[in-house]
Amino acid sequence: MKVLSYGRQCINEEDISEVVKVLRGDWLTMGPTVEKFERSLADYAGVKHAVTFSSGTAALHGAMHAAGLGPGKKSLTTALTFVATANSALYTGAGVMFADIAENFCLDPEKAEQVIKNNGGKVDAIVPVSFAGYPFEIEPFKELAKKYNAVLIEDASHAWGGDRGKNKIGFDADMTTLSFHPVKHITTAEGGAVLTNSDEFAKSLKLFRNHGTTRNSKEFQDEPDGLWHSEMQNLGYNYRLSELSCALGLSQMKRLDEFVQRRRELARLYFEYLSGVDGVILPPDTEGHAWHLFVLRVKDPELHGQLFNFLRDNDIRLQVHYRPVPLQPYYRNNFGYKAGDFPEAERYYSGAISLPIYPSMEDGDVKRVADCIKNFFKSI
Ligand SMILES: Cc1ncc(COP(=O)(O)O)c(C=O)c1O
Repeated sequence: MKVLSYGRQCINEEDISEVVKVLRGDWLTMGPTVEKFERSLADYAGVKHAVTFSSGTAALHGAMHAAGLGPGKKSLTTALTFVATANSALYTGAGVMFADIAENFCLDPEKAEQVIKNNGGKVDAIVPVSFAGYPFEIEPFKELAKKYNAVLIEDASHAWGGDRGKNKIGFDADMTTLSFHPVKHITTAEGGAVLTNSDEFAKSLKLFRNHGTTRNSKEFQDEPDGLWHSEMQNLGYNYRLSELSCALGLSQMKRLDEFVQRRRELARLYFEYLSGVDGVILPPDTEGHAWHLFVLRVKDPELHGQLFNFLRDNDIRLQVHYRPVPLQPYYRNNFGYKAGDFPEAERYYSGAISLPIYPSMEDGDVKRVADCIKNFFKSI
């Protein structure tokens, strides 16, 4: 039987030929394709700048740095996310605080404010995640950021191509980070980006991803030594994305709307086939959802592992996104978090299964997954 995984890339011949063209050209890194890809990302979201990075994690690290995080500062994020959303603040020497999720599986703004108040009203970056592709309401977070003088960074690794009505994802926060890992909406193999309207953040991000060095004469602090002059002005990293990756990304961008549309159709089919199945809870649904993940929740935690194994035995490869980050051993051991601290995220985790959803899936694949789930509940 065909193996279905929870996500996979969708590559066509045009993507391949665009990458091959770059391989035959003069630039493998730091050439014109990086800029073209960045332009295409920024134009799609309707923002001034896109700065590409070697991964979504590196993009988050860049955003935390540009937001001024460092020793003595703190970010606040959701307990339910990929570890990188939290780790990236720690990389800068800052701390990280967590708050529990709301019914849409995204950071709950009221709980977030309570955590900020418990920290004496101090927070430097607020980092909500459009979890599974759900475009959470942004206004409460903008208000929080303004009230507490923090930078608002949306981790939109799950939501590229989604929207909040007329605003595309990437438009609303001070900075928005993306990931182009193969299971995401478009891929560059590994890769990521930060979107922003701020010239200052964009400048800081570009320096950070290239060892803190610049060749832009307008930015020089010293008299140039000669035409070769470049300056290292900050401590940065090699977080550059290659021309090959950017050629793939640029080609994939042409089909982003198509990809998101197909994900939305597949989600509709899951809702149709699974509505009325006792024993499961279907995910929150809303306009503008980008459906990176379709998360089914098993009502009885005792059956969680059993259903997971049953589907796996039927060649349906699943994932659970995610074990709450503060309950990972690293966070428990170093920061003292414990079971029971994030009841909603923990309840979610006790039953969550991410079903297969990716653009090249056929309607019949969704039916197969749904039938398998129904058979499981008949068999117990
Ligand atoms: C919510 C979230 N943030 C950050 C990342 C990190 O992205 P990458 O894997 O491209 O480093 C991911 C990737 O899975 C993610 O899902």
